[in-house]
Amino acid sequence: MTDVNGLSIGILGGTGDQGKGLARRFALAGHPVLIGSRSAQRAQEAADSIGAGAAGDENAAVASQADLVIVAVPYDGHKALLESLRAELAGKIVVDCVNPLGFDKQGAYALPVEEGSAAQQAAAVLTASRVVAAFHHVSAVVLMDPSVEKVDLDVLVLGDDREATSTVQALAEAIPGVRGVYGGRLRNAHQVEALTANIISVNRRYKAHAGLRITDI
Ligand SMILES: NC(=O)c1ccc[n+]([C@@H]2O[C@H](COP(=O)([O-])OP(=O)(O)OC[C@H]3O[C@@H](n4cnc5c(N)ncnc54)[C@H](OP(=O)(O)O)[C@@H]3O)[C@@H](O)[C@H]2O)c1
Repeated sequence: MTDVNGLSIGILGGTGDQGKGLARRFALAGHPVLIGSRSAQRAQEAADSIGAGAAGDENAAVASQADLVIVAVPYDGHKALLESLRAELAGKIVVDCVNPLGFDKQGAYALPVEEGSAAQQAAAVLTASRVVAAFHHVSAVVLMDPSVEKVDLDVLVLGDDREATSTVQALAEAIPGVRGVYGGRLRNAHQVEALTANIISVNRRYKAHAGLRITDI
């Protein structure tokens, strides 16, 4: 298993539910965590609110300071934000957990993405970064719930750089209960992002925060 001890984690859009949830779990696991936002003040407030020792700053400062950067913004703002941070993110592992979804009366559905998926869009913009797709199916509610000691799911990790996917698998396993499972090349990220729409349907029908487990490995 790759050693991720001491790796600092930056989270773009870390003021949202998903960013705060991941920040909390990684901070509890002993990682230095930097929450990013378009506003340094909102970032600081979010960092203080998770009560686990994170710091906050503007997205650009977080992108340049952190060893590994997670993108946790809505799909709407995804491409423009990454275009503005190309230089800061160069050479780094960038983990995309963005699910391009629409919602209507029938529930959630996958949006078409010109590049194939949000993760491929990130890779097309960040040509000097090592883009990995992961954490699409982890519920922010579960990550934030202090009564959940072990998060019961596998995190599918996709990418074209084996060292980078191994690092992100190890990072996922810093969250108690989670297993990081290699899920294929980045060109197969669309299905993983789109599957979130199905999981949201499961959650609504069964009033749950469902996760996935891969068997026989
Ligand atoms: N929520 C979940 O359970 C969950 C699970 C798995 C994956 N995800 C994915 O994680 C991402 C974040 O989800 P979320 O629920 O945390 O979303 P969110 O709360 O709607 O947004 C997260 C943060 O993104 C920033 N943001 C919003 N619009 C932006 C824009 N146009 N440009 C730059 N930054 C913008 C905001 O921070 P500032 O205003 O402070 O900049 C906001 O607090 C989504 O892509 C989602 O698909 C979510």
